[in-house]
Amino acid sequence: ASESEEKDLVIIGGGVAGYVAAIKAGQSGLKVACIEKRGSLGGTCLNVGCIPSKSLLNNSHLYHQILHDTKHRGITVGEVKIDIAQMMKAKESSVTGLTKGIEFLFKKNNVEYIKGTGAFQDEHTVAVNLIDGGETTVRGKNIFISTGSEATPFPGLTIDEKKVITSTGAIALQEIPKKMVVIGGGIIGLEMGSVWSRLGSEVTVVEFLGQIGGPGMDAEISKQIQKMLTKQGMKFKLNTKVTQGDDSGESVKVNVEAAKGGKEEVLDADVVLVAIGRRPYTAGLGLENIGLETDEKGRIVIDQEYRTKIPHIRAIGDVTFGPMLAHKAEEEGVAAVEYLTKGYGHVNYGAIPSVMYTHPEVAWVGQNEQELKAANVKYRVGTFPFSANSRAKTNLDTEGLVKFISDAETDRILGIHIIGPNAGEMIAEGTLALEYGASSEGKPTNNYKLSTLLIITLDVARTSHAHPTLSEAFKEAAMATYDKAIHY
Ligand code: FAD
Ligand code: NAI
Repeated sequence: ASESEEKDLVIIGGGVAGYVAAIKAGQSGLKVACIEKRGSLGGTCLNVGCIPSKSLLNNSHLYHQILHDTKHRGITVGEVKIDIAQMMKAKESSVTGLTKGIEFLFKKNNVEYIKGTGAFQDEHTVAVNLIDGGETTVRGKNIFISTGSEATPFPGLTIDEKKVITSTGAIALQEIPKKMVVIGGGIIGLEMGSVWSRLGSEVTVVEFLGQIGGPGMDAEISKQIQKMLTKQGMKFKLNTKVTQGDDSGESVKVNVEAAKGGKEEVLDADVVLVAIGRRPYTAGLGLENIGLETDEKGRIVIDQEYRTKIPHIRAIGDVTFGPMLAHKAEEEGVAAVEYLTKGYGHVNYGAIPSVMYTHPEVAWVGQNEQELKAANVKYRVGTFPFSANSRAKTNLDTEGLVKFISDAETDRILGIHIIGPNAGEMIAEGTLALEYGASSEGKPTNNYKLSTLLIITLDVARTSHAHPTLSEAFKEAAMATYDKAIHY
């Protein structure tokens, strides 16, 4: 890095928020540098999050399906074996392919990539402790903080990523544990719990609340997916808290009791996965040198244009407010650069989809029933089960449903919740509908002129969906919101 030249933009953290902002800034003609300490771009998501976990989810699902779901399809298989080392290699090749791809995109878009740990020296200067040794400084007219998040530790248990693990250990185990206890039944607990349960571990999930799935999941959907995962072999202890843990012996012991108090029970496990949420990461960033503080949850406080109280310093992604999701970080990366270059940007926080990549998948966008009840909103619900969908039937994969929630008066869609194969792809249609302010039906009119003028009048249930596809269930759930579905 050159010490003399001042950049238009310096980005600290090359995760999804940071690398996307860097590419966008390069494309917009800004002189930009991105500092990353991991030695690899893409952050949590590409290196130890979204990508490796989805590789393991996909391949463990294939294995599980070959073991349990072939005979009735007319397929006889011989001996089926698992090769964990090869499964991990396949995962690593997906990760490296993608992280190297970002390095290429940096070059293509004139982004300077600085490998090292950045810390604020003053409001315009970042000191970098280089991975290859030595130090440098970079000056920026503008600076983005995109340092991401880290796993929240569980008091009393020491993470060694072997016996007591976070998601980082859970994507890298070399052996299949006989017994695994998962503390926290949120998205990480259920995704990584699924992986190891499919591969043969006896997995018990301990969740403090009365429902699994983490924040945002509709309560009815949560109950249903819990039943499905239970059928697959996972065990759940809801309304249960872990009071203490002991990792001094060969196995790990965790004491649990009913959240409201009650009899204590000791669970014994080869591996304990701590998955109780993530927290913003700003350690060693030198925020104190520029007088920036974090809120009570460790988040960097920003305004609507991602500006901290020092206006040329912005924060995006997991390190600040909002859901800790890669696509949210990505949207913010683009929007923050647009605020910088054009003065305006756009992220619709009401239409950010969530997907849990279990089998079946769970996906949702917008509000759930419990949130609408709490806000006293009158709504209608329409559901359609995949057991009545022709494609799901041909695939012999019929668990789940599509659930539409729309405003009782205006029919405007308020939330869409799906459990089903490929729910994560299907929710894109729901997100678009929500983004466009669509209704579940829309009122047809016999006035042709009016209907072409008001193109928004005919919405989801009156849009042709190809047959036979899973997305017909989407259309039929929309129909069921104001009238009756045809096939159920
Ligand atoms: P990060 O990706 O955490 O990137 C921050 C980067 O900054 C890191 O690489 C870090 O090394 C670097 N850094 C920190 N401090 C410094 C410093 N001082 N100097 C230089 N560099 C620094 N989200 C989804 O949407 N879909 C999924 O399927 C999904 N799966 C996940 C699975 C797991 C197991 C986990 C843990 C997370 C998952 N997430 C998923 C969440 C997703 O990974 C995050 O929301 C996303 O990575 C946030 O991006 P970010 O850029 O804000 O932060
Ligand atoms: P989470 O917030 O989804 O779930 C944590 C769960 O742990 C909650 O249900 C909570 O009630 C429970 N919990 C908290 N303290 C507890 C305790 N002491 N004992 C028992 N239960 C306790 O957090 P998680 O699963 O760690 O994931 C972190 C974040 O990573 C998610 O919020 C999500 O943003 C992101 N992520 C996204 C994925 C995706 O989009 N598919 C996949 C994995 C992670």
